Amino acid sequence: MTESKLEAWLEETRSFAPPASLAAHANAQPSIYDEASADPVAWWRTQADRLTWDTPPTKSLEWDLPNAKWFSDGTLNATVNCVDRHVEAGRGDKVAFHWVADVDGESRTITYRQLLSMVSQAANALIELGVKSGDRVAIYMPMIPEAVVAMLACARLGAAHSVVFAGFSADALASRIQDSDCAYVITADGAIRRGAPSPLKPAVDEALQSCPNVKAVLVVRRTGADVNWVEGRDHWWHETVDRQSDVHVAESFPAEQTLLIMYTSGTTAKPKGIFHTTGGYLTQTAATYHYIFDVKPETDVLWTAADIGWITGHSYIVYGPLVNGVTQVMYEGLPDSGGRDRWWRIVEQYKVSVLYTAPTTIRTLMKWGEDLPAGHDLGSLRLLGTVGEPINPEAWIWYRKNVGRDNCPIVDTWWQTETGAIMITPLPGITVTKPGAAMKAFPGISVDVVDNDGNSVGNGEGGYLVVTAPWPSMTRGIWGDPQRFVDTYWARFPGKYFAGDGAKKDDDGDLWLLGRIDDVMNISGHRLSTTEVEHALVGHPMVAEAAVIGASDETTGQAIVAFVTLKLSAEQANQDQAPLIEELRQHVAKVISPIAKPRQIILTPDLPKTRSGKIMRRLLRDVAENRTLGDVTTLTDPTVVNMIAGLMGEGGED
Ligand code: PRX
Repeated sequence: MTESKLEAWLEETRSFAPPASLAAHANAQPSIYDEASADPVAWWRTQADRLTWDTPPTKSLEWDLPNAKWFSDGTLNATVNCVDRHVEAGRGDKVAFHWVADVDGESRTITYRQLLSMVSQAANALIELGVKSGDRVAIYMPMIPEAVVAMLACARLGAAHSVVFAGFSADALASRIQDSDCAYVITADGAIRRGAPSPLKPAVDEALQSCPNVKAVLVVRRTGADVNWVEGRDHWWHETVDRQSDVHVAESFPAEQTLLIMYTSGTTAKPKGIFHTTGGYLTQTAATYHYIFDVKPETDVLWTAADIGWITGHSYIVYGPLVNGVTQVMYEGLPDSGGRDRWWRIVEQYKVSVLYTAPTTIRTLMKWGEDLPAGHDLGSLRLLGTVGEPINPEAWIWYRKNVGRDNCPIVDTWWQTETGAIMITPLPGITVTKPGAAMKAFPGISVDVVDNDGNSVGNGEGGYLVVTAPWPSMTRGIWGDPQRFVDTYWARFPGKYFAGDGAKKDDDGDLWLLGRIDDVMNISGHRLSTTEVEHALVGHPMVAEAAVIGASDETTGQAIVAFVTLKLSAEQANQDQAPLIEELRQHVAKVISPIAKPRQIILTPDLPKTRSGKIMRRLLRDVAENRTLGDVTTLTDPTVVNMIAGLMGEGGED
């Protein structure tokens, strides 16, 4: 659809009511909002009854801002909730995962009974390696069932897992292992990407050179590639796990036992170890999954197309779905592994009923054309979700028409690593949705949009998104850095959680998320800080200074553009610009990850700075996005921006 046609169409059809057939049987009925708002803490306590507690909690919320405890005198085991209880209830033969490999035709089906055996064996193996309650275990794995089993085996023992996205570099892995002092690492020899092996173990070996406290490494054989082996430290999964007893009696842990650590980028170079505890996190991931995805465990096949290396994978592939006892598709590959219609073949083959993905992927699928989804029977789909970044109305409409055949509600869900679970979302049987709007706080959640002074803005106005009351799955802090937790989230607007996002209330009071307002970029739904990339660039011996911005990009939402000054100019160093730029891009990939590689690097003799020496990123963003320049009067040298604009025109893009 052309843009003008889309606009005209949107003008006519601004909102979409839920299909009557879905609304009538939806898990969330309209009374849910009043029930929750009458007493949110009490409502969350009833939601905690979704869990099997060894000691049911008598306490609900203890709130000493910014420190929350939820259900603190309750005890439970996370994996009993995810696995054992479904088997005990006679649902052992139910499929937990249809695992679909990157390579066409390869798949595995894992029932809840099999999952229980696998988790028990893995837990017994971890005990043999020395893992105990309270330890931290780093997991650096591709999207294979053992990744889920590894997470659950840690949780079963009360050890916190710290999953590091397998696309991160050895340096990034090392700093995360060190920061939370992980004594164990679970990994694989490699991953399979579009049919080809992509090694992982070498990055672990390199990382561990600077992690002397790591006692053992457990390695799944996925690719069969030759790997370096450190005797005494390295253990093959198939030799260590498979010989274990498949019985493991789960211990009970306090609700506030740390379940997981997930590193995410903040506004400084050092990622933050966001940690979550057990009872509150499980309560909210389970409740949101039940209501927002309108889960019918008997008939649904749900597919969260995310990687377990990010919070979406944790909350909506592992914990939320497994607590609900559903059947899922778990997919190892890329959207075009085995062909650009791969996703639609998976939906058709497994009769997927609920699909949850990121706008960036929707835009990619959109580019590949509507003939691909049209060529497959997607009639099993009844609900669609999106997460990770603002969704542009055109992508929303495309998703609705071409994937949802105009009769699937779309839930645009806003949340963060820190919030642990979904916070703002439509409810599929209730909300009349608007393309591009996340709409309303989930029941029991209080959010607001405030101005610079922290005052609530009126309808039709924009400002900063804040959360105004504690919620069960809120992060309990930043690992090892309580002061940074206070400074980052609780200092900007006293008494309120500052999310770092801009938002708008429309004339009806519905919420539209507008993206980050701090130095955090969102690249294909991956969160990266400008400072982190600048830090990596400045670490290169030739670089004097770097300024990084996230410029808007049609497919990836934002793309990284870096402005770099060199210690010696390229000519002085006798180097051509193009290879040097490529070297710098590779350098960033090595220090952080290939996902952090700048789309474009501009070598410039100078950067626009204020008289106090601050780099004016706002102006660089204007330049990169071809906008008229804002106020330049505070610059030491206003000609610098025009010079940079000229340099950008000369290229450097790939
Ligand atoms: O800017 C918001 C954006 O993603 C950020 C959180 O990133 P991360 O912690 O990596 O978690 C991503 C998956 C939950 C937020 O601060 N974001 C997430 N969902 C949306 C969104 N922006 C707009 N609309 C959304 N639905």
